Amino acid sequence: MIVCVCRRVSDREIARHARAGMSFDEIQFELGVATQCGNCETCARGIVEQCCSSHPVAALHSEAVVQVSPAIRDSRAWAPSPSSAA
Ligand code: FES
Repeated sequence: MIVCVCRRVSDREIARHARAGMSFDEIQFELGVATQCGNCETCARGIVEQCCSSHPVAALHSEAVVQVSPAIRDSRAWAPSPSSAA
């Protein structure tokens, strides 16, 4: 479905970019959605929000911190192998 008539941007295009980790502003810059009459902005933002909440992606910034739950951290899966302990 076309969301932005002015720039001919579909919901699928917006969703694909959002799932790739792009913010609304980045998608707006990339696709031009909501840059003319603005009637599509609410709908486009809604699609981005839906995709971000249902498909979270890890931040790609260097400051990103990954927190591992204690149950996983203390499990045997994280125990060093005999070859790497040496
Ligand atoms: S419909 Fe998207 S800017 Fe006009």
